Amino acid sequence: MSANLHLNSLSSPSTSAARPWRVGLIGFGCVGQGLYDILQKRPETGFDISRIVVKNQTKERTLPANRFEFDAAALLADDTLDVLVEVIDDAEEAFRLVAAALRRGRRVVTANKAMLARHLPELVQLQREGQGTLLYEAAVCGSIPVIRTLDAYFGAEPLRRLTGILNGSSNYVLTRMGEDSSDYAPALAEAQAKGFAETDPSLDMGAFDPRSKAVLLAAHAYGAFLQPEQVLNLGIEGISAVDIAFAATLGQKIKVVAGLQRLPDGRVTALVTPQLVGPDSPLYSVDNEFNGVVIEADFAGEQFLRGRGAGGHPTGSAVLADLAALRQGFAYQYPKARAGAPAYASDLEVEIYLRTDEDRLIDLLDFSEISEEADEDEYVVGYVALENLIRHRDTLRKYGAFVVRTGQLRPISTAVAAVVEEESF
Ligand SMILES: NC(=O)c1ccc[n+]([C@@H]2O[C@H](COP(=O)([O-])OP(=O)(O)OC[C@H]3O[C@@H](n4cnc5c(N)ncnc54)[C@H](OP(=O)(O)O)[C@@H]3O)[C@@H](O)[C@H]2O)c1
Repeated sequence: MSANLHLNSLSSPSTSAARPWRVGLIGFGCVGQGLYDILQKRPETGFDISRIVVKNQTKERTLPANRFEFDAAALLADDTLDVLVEVIDDAEEAFRLVAAALRRGRRVVTANKAMLARHLPELVQLQREGQGTLLYEAAVCGSIPVIRTLDAYFGAEPLRRLTGILNGSSNYVLTRMGEDSSDYAPALAEAQAKGFAETDPSLDMGAFDPRSKAVLLAAHAYGAFLQPEQVLNLGIEGISAVDIAFAATLGQKIKVVAGLQRLPDGRVTALVTPQLVGPDSPLYSVDNEFNGVVIEADFAGEQFLRGRGAGGHPTGSAVLADLAALRQGFAYQYPKARAGAPAYASDLEVEIYLRTDEDRLIDLLDFSEISEEADEDEYVVGYVALENLIRHRDTLRKYGAFVVRTGQLRPISTAVAAVVEEESF
């Protein structure tokens, strides 16, 4: 058989040789325009953006005004569209639209991690009931194909651990602080000037954005459907050059790391906080706006994915990959959840470095063990109950404390002292 014949026998009527798929696009911002641009440059992909819905009727657009409409309900009702792409910046409205589309049995692609992290169980249920299909590779780490890798490739293999830098904005700020010895405010201003951080940076710098992504990763890596609040998230708003210097004396960098882990008893835990990362980790060299994910599987061993986590083209590329997967009939199987969702564990102790000029915060966290204390630099290193960190995260943020995990976790000590209530602070 010639190579040509062989290839022909592999092509099916559902590939791009068939009629182009009609795409209904809801949202024409950074991601929507990125996808549009990619499809313009690559018409052979076989996707045609047939209708576009946006919100603001007076905004200037990069396309003629007659390309835009303003009623998303009309797209949901248009059965001539093969697929809907939802890329708006309003999580509640996005949920309303995506849920309605799934109830109608539609195929949908979304990039909205905040919406997905809040509503994933309902959306999975709606797919089962309504026969619709929802893909969302773009929601986690932009162009990095991590969701499909976990769901399809590692669907059958247990994972020990998954660690990732899931937010390019905070990673850019940390890189600038490390390389230029600059402080937090100028590094953040530079990130904003270069378009790597939002005008309101709180979701990125406070680790709310990577927490949403960690929730999605937990569903595919472990079958654990978590609510965002269950996952500890601590950000970098309180960081200073002193902390970067502290890490450097240990030969390490500070990165905001999402750590998902299976414990020896089969339960799983997930935390998203600054962490000390040494040169032995592949995440050490994930700098600037890049993202990276290390997957540690029981039999495959360690694998590392690195790439651009945001931006119109990288994120549009992930949306395109989902469109192509849908055309091949792909749907997430959530195989680990089918096998029985593991319990979530928070009865652990986490080793942290805490820098604060408020001694009362140290009392509040109730360290079970302190290995190092430096009065001059106002920091403490020791073990704290994870539940105390979760309970007091807002207070830590409010008082500008900075917390870094060393990476050590251990079962909770039996002699944990009584919890200090936040009200008494
Ligand atoms: N930007 C990234 O790199 C990136 C990466 C990964 C995931 N995401 C996610 O992708 C989604 C879109 O992000 P983005 O950066 O593209 O946002 P964006 O640049 O702010 O654009 C948002 C778009 O949504 C439209 N919109 C808002 N509410 C709408 C509504 N009710 N009906 C119809 N259109 C509506 C806006 O319309 P107007 O044009 O009329 O204002 C705008 O076109 C978000 O969920 C984001 O978290 C973004």
